[in-house]
Amino acid sequence: MSGPNTSYDPVEVAALEPEAIEQAVTAALAAVAAAASLEELKSLRGAHQGDKSPLALANREIGALPPSAKAEAGKRVGQARGRVASAFTARQGELEVERDNRILVEEALDVTVPVTRRRSGARHPISLVTQRVEDIFVAMGWEIAEGPEVEAEWLNFDALNLGQDHPARQMQDTFFVEPEGSGLVLRTHTSPVQIRTMLREDPPIYVLCPGKVFRTDDLDATHTPVFHQFEGLVVDEGITMAHLKGSLDAFVSRLFGEGIVTRLRPSYFPFTEPSAEIDCQCWICGGTNPSCRTCGGTGWIEVGGCGMVNRRVLAAAGITDEKYTGFAFGLGIERSLMLRHGVGDMHDIVEGDVRFSAQFGMEI
Ligand code: PHE
Repeated sequence: MSGPNTSYDPVEVAALEPEAIEQAVTAALAAVAAAASLEELKSLRGAHQGDKSPLALANREIGALPPSAKAEAGKRVGQARGRVASAFTARQGELEVERDNRILVEEALDVTVPVTRRRSGARHPISLVTQRVEDIFVAMGWEIAEGPEVEAEWLNFDALNLGQDHPARQMQDTFFVEPEGSGLVLRTHTSPVQIRTMLREDPPIYVLCPGKVFRTDDLDATHTPVFHQFEGLVVDEGITMAHLKGSLDAFVSRLFGEGIVTRLRPSYFPFTEPSAEIDCQCWICGGTNPSCRTCGGTGWIEVGGCGMVNRRVLAAAGITDEKYTGFAFGLGIERSLMLRHGVGDMHDIVEGDVRFSAQFGMEI
């Protein structure tokens, strides 16, 4: 507070006149009442309540008044400032309520509005089965081997003892890679990986090779030109057909259920000798239902081929030591899937519709 103003200035003291005070209050109240938003109200504060507002200036003049006039002027200015302050507070309260109501309306969520929910993806059942099969063999100490889908004709056929005149070499089964005579095919089975593995590694060999294979079949309810197989190959000292049978039984019991076994039926493959078809005990009826739709009442389901690796194949892959023998098998994944899950149409498997995959569990 400044001391008594000795050089009394009537111009400045005019700010303390009741009319001037009233005018400042009226102007402030009008401005406050007209403020349409909190931002606007805030911007008015400087002009009506700030250090340079008429009432603040008037307040500062009080110190310059003669002592007798101070009390009255002080009261007048104090009341005026009080009115302005409470007008600000009241308007602020109103505008806050308005703002809150507006936010409630503008940001309201209608929780009943229907939404189009994005489904999460899932691995294809072919991938799920493949992974399960891999897990079973890896748990038995086998390794996973892979080979290219565009394969040398020599590895796909010749090295596997498939002579030039073998029906599988005819155009109707095999996709040949252009130009003619390129020596390349889309592999028709995963067996060339047997050769690749034996060329790369010395026995003991215990490998599983899952992968895509290609044959010139048209896509229909039971065929597809691109499908999946897994090939098993074991080469070690003293390997016999008993090891083959034991490995297959261990595998099917883990995939299809405890107690499920395989049965071998004599067959022919150029790359195995002796060769056999692999039948798996029906995992639906176990052979107890004569009208079972999965096994046709026979109790057995054909799932693939197998045999002891033909010595000519071992030799082609550089394994000539007679102490080594081996077995190999090949199984189709689509077929297992169709049988196991009652998939009636191959189209469902190849089309990649998530509604199909979802039925097998959304494993990611
Ligand atoms: N490669 C054969 C096929 O695709 C399956 C098979 C593999 C048979 C290994 C015997 C041994 O039909």
